[in-house]
Amino acid sequence: MNISIFKKDGNKFYMKDFFEKNILDEIKKNESPPAQIENFISAAECQNLINYFQNLKNKSVGKSQFIEREESTKIFFKLDQSHEIKKLYQKIQDIIGEFYVNDFQPHIITSRYPLRLHVDTGKNPNDLIFKNVIIPLEVEYDLEKKNHCPPNTLIFKNTWYDQSALFTNHTDNDKDFIIKDSNGKFVDILNIDDFFNKIQKFNEDEIEYNENVFRINDNFKDYIKRLTEIKRYNLRTNKHIVNDKNFNRDLYEKYLSHQQYEDCKSLELDKAIETKVGSLIYWDRTRIHSSDNFIKNNVKSKTLLALFTSKTKIS
Ligand SMILES: [Fe+2]
Repeated sequence: MNISIFKKDGNKFYMKDFFEKNILDEIKKNESPPAQIENFISAAECQNLINYFQNLKNKSVGKSQFIEREESTKIFFKLDQSHEIKKLYQKIQDIIGEFYVNDFQPHIITSRYPLRLHVDTGKNPNDLIFKNVIIPLEVEYDLEKKNHCPPNTLIFKNTWYDQSALFTNHTDNDKDFIIKDSNGKFVDILNIDDFFNKIQKFNEDEIEYNENVFRINDNFKDYIKRLTEIKRYNLRTNKHIVNDKNFNRDLYEKYLSHQQYEDCKSLELDKAIETKVGSLIYWDRTRIHSSDNFIKNNVKSKTLLALFTSKTKIS
């Protein structure tokens, strides 16, 4: 693919120019179809990992070890921090081959709102990126609702050879956040700065914003303020759209209704991989992927162990 992108200074460059030429060749040599190994670890091992990390989070005082938000919680760890994790690292290598983690620390993520279209290619043009690896540890359903369906990870055929990116047509700012309204429903706020300005003068009050109701108090204002200060890791771009082909409408309704339909243009689904607890799931870091809209299947949350791997160590 030869896609033009503009750098911040306005100069044009091509996507193939992001990774160093020899690195890009090696990245492509290591590419393989997405795969899932079922029963990679047992249900008891999953529960032990959850307990271990929850305990770690409860004990940690610094913010660097975890990030807590309404829509997700991330707990970071190192591959050599315990005997059990070292063993797990080796066990994953036995399946996918030798790897390292360079740029984004290994983590446990609990998602309460589905991730949208993105790629985890990192930010280092010298990083010989390898596989995204996840191990689902727990899926929690809303037991007050009748119908339940397991969540999926969607891997697209489309690849991306530039830095980590979130794919959207909404590229004029990177200030959109998912927050809960006063009914507990997740709402996409397109500009958190604007939202913060609007709520400043209220206290112990309910306000309506874009047809959603929010209860304002000091805690809520502090939380929104923190969101306004976050610097986004991912580039926001719609350059993944390379032709006029609309995404399959049935697949969109089934899986992707948490994403704008227009954002899915030119995408082709490769695999929808079911979030089976204890399985090992991996795909190339150059593959565009997303979560499915698990909320409509009455999934309250899913918790995964996630690694962004590389073939060589960058110190
Ligand atoms: Fe990802």
